[in-house]
Amino acid sequence: MPEGPEKVTVPLDQSLYMLHPYNAALVSTKTKDGQNNVLTIAWIIPTSINPPLLTISIRKERFSYKAIQETGEFVVNIPTFDMAEKVIRAGRITGKEIDKFAELGLTPRKAKMVNAPKIEECVAHIECKLWKTFEAGDHNLIVGEIMAAEVVEGYFSKTWDITKFRPCQHTGKQFFTTCSLEAVEIKF
Ligand SMILES: Cc1cc2nc3c(=O)[nH]c(=O)nc-3n(C[C@H](O)[C@H](O)[C@H](O)COP(=O)(O)O)c2cc1C
Repeated sequence: MPEGPEKVTVPLDQSLYMLHPYNAALVSTKTKDGQNNVLTIAWIIPTSINPPLLTISIRKERFSYKAIQETGEFVVNIPTFDMAEKVIRAGRITGKEIDKFAELGLTPRKAKMVNAPKIEECVAHIECKLWKTFEAGDHNLIVGEIMAAEVVEGYFSKTWDITKFRPCQHTGKQFFTTCSLEAVEIKF
């Protein structure tokens, strides 16, 4: 068997970034005092189909973490690639100091099943109620039960129509990419 290219060692604290690109999401919350907020989350894991669960990996220091623990609610909003600048800024400033909806020109809309707002500019919304929290190193895993989900008509039917949807994929640091090909069905 021919030898492949030589492999170099990757520092352990950088190794997780080899799992990227991940679709970045804008996760919105509302505190119990009524303050809307949004943060960027790249580390989201589809977790269970029945019950429908997803998991976000989030540091305890985040203002959004406190809101989710307080209210037990959040919305995962799916942005498109043309929103990449808003996505990175939502992930660089904190709702402790700034009204990010106003600052980023995002529009909060009433969600169906939770008090946390959905973000009008995003193509899809997954409304969640806190199911469980797990400690995991310097991040905590927040498992959310999906209560409602919606998407712009024509973009998604069991799978994304990738000729329409341009995901905002985070490759690490300040770098983003998107899908440039149609999805190819693999026959097996
Ligand atoms: C592209 C991108 C992805 C991010 N992904 C995560 C993540 O998965 N988990 C996390 O805790 N923080 C993540 N962050 C950092 C938070 O979004 C950031 O600390 C944010 O300012 C927290 O806002 P808040 O204090 O208003 O909640 C990410 C930031 C960027 C720019």
